[in-house]
Amino acid sequence: MTTTRKSIHGQWSNRLVFILAATGSAVGLGNIWKFPYIAGENGGGTFVLVYLVCIALIGVPIMMAETMIGRRGRQSPINTMAALAADEGRSAGWVALGWMGVIAGFLILSYYSVIAGWALSYIFRSASGAFLNVTSNGINSIFTNLVSDPEKLLAWHTIFMVMTMIVVARGVKHGLEKAVRFLMPALLALLLMTVAYSMTTGYFMEGVRFLFTPGPISGQGVLIAMGHAFFTLSLGMGAIMVYGSYLPRHTSITQASVLIAVSDTGVALLAGMAIFPIVFANGLEPGAGPGLIFKTLPIAFGHMEAGTMIGTAFFILLVFAAWTSAISLIEPAVAWMVENRGMNRIYASVYIGIFTWLIGIGSVLSFNLWADHTWSVPFLFKDKNFFDTLDFVTANLMLPLGGLFIAIFAAWMMKESSTRDELNTHNVVYRIWYFLVKYITPIAVIVVFLNVIGVIEL
Ligand code: PFF
Repeated sequence: MTTTRKSIHGQWSNRLVFILAATGSAVGLGNIWKFPYIAGENGGGTFVLVYLVCIALIGVPIMMAETMIGRRGRQSPINTMAALAADEGRSAGWVALGWMGVIAGFLILSYYSVIAGWALSYIFRSASGAFLNVTSNGINSIFTNLVSDPEKLLAWHTIFMVMTMIVVARGVKHGLEKAVRFLMPALLALLLMTVAYSMTTGYFMEGVRFLFTPGPISGQGVLIAMGHAFFTLSLGMGAIMVYGSYLPRHTSITQASVLIAVSDTGVALLAGMAIFPIVFANGLEPGAGPGLIFKTLPIAFGHMEAGTMIGTAFFILLVFAAWTSAISLIEPAVAWMVENRGMNRIYASVYIGIFTWLIGIGSVLSFNLWADHTWSVPFLFKDKNFFDTLDFVTANLMLPLGGLFIAIFAAWMMKESSTRDELNTHNVVYRIWYFLVKYITPIAVIVVFLNVIGVIEL
């Protein structure tokens, strides 16, 4: 059955805009900041391989499922789930999936904004020439000075949250569309320049080997790689679902999903190739943690021709990449408040922004005053502070769990005629998608979870 629902929030002008917006959501701090440091912490090679397999076999099919569900429901993820559960004659309890996404979105944005704040501050560091000929010790102390000062971090976090609220308040057409058009290609160009610098360090192959030579990996490492596949593609929490709800009817969801996944993965791998040669050339630690790119890339900018300008431009673009992701993190919640509370977008954005900002203070303090306040949860994690816990719980538990239920809903709860109609793709492609979403995704997510809690051993 074809549905004729319309979104009250408007529609993307065309297919390209959806691809840009979804790519804007996918490409962000996850690719440039997070991927290199978690790859470094988990030993490189095998981690990267697991991540790539998860992108192809879980990420792309779930992206298709989420977009499809969003387009069919045409509302915020909470109301979309309610509407489709009713259409398909399923339990009203499926709205819980929408709620979990909204909560995951708040929690992720609360710390995402703090890290985006680091990138904001680096724009000014770079522009003032602080990276010129900088040594690894020098950049280490610049970074430590920044993160050990809660007031500075709070100020940058606040600025970034205000920026996010402004774009979200302006809405789909004026806010989101305009923000994404030119930024992605520019970011790619600067990333390529940084890779070119890394090639001159004499350690390029060492970096590449680290990224692509298989080695040992822990069960936790596998969970983190899978969680990152969800995080980096913005899956499992309704962000892509809500963007799908603004998608015109005749766009190919398959093509768009593959294109988005390929660009996103390309950016992450380029970031890795830019960063690891610098790590090895300067005797740094690949497992240096969340500060990794902030301690390595400035060395490249400090030593290349016109590095002050290139570095400044790079951090500006990184902030833009984070910005276009951040708006998608709260769009599901804002869309819901507009639909159910009759609120206008401006108020909805402000309320949600303030709430997220408050939670973010916990992450601000995690890098200084609360750094040593850690706790452990048996089977799941050891000695994590507030920031590390939020990151772990959202990216590695909530998103894969969201993805698991999206897969179950799309393949087991929706009628085949509905998914066929909405995906509207070649029969072979449909069959492959159906098989992956019906069996492979649920089994993979469950097996990785069971492995982490020690019920089975991979
Ligand atoms: N995909 C974004 C990144 O890689 O930086 C982060 C993100 C955005 C995660 C939106 C989840 C989401 F819904």
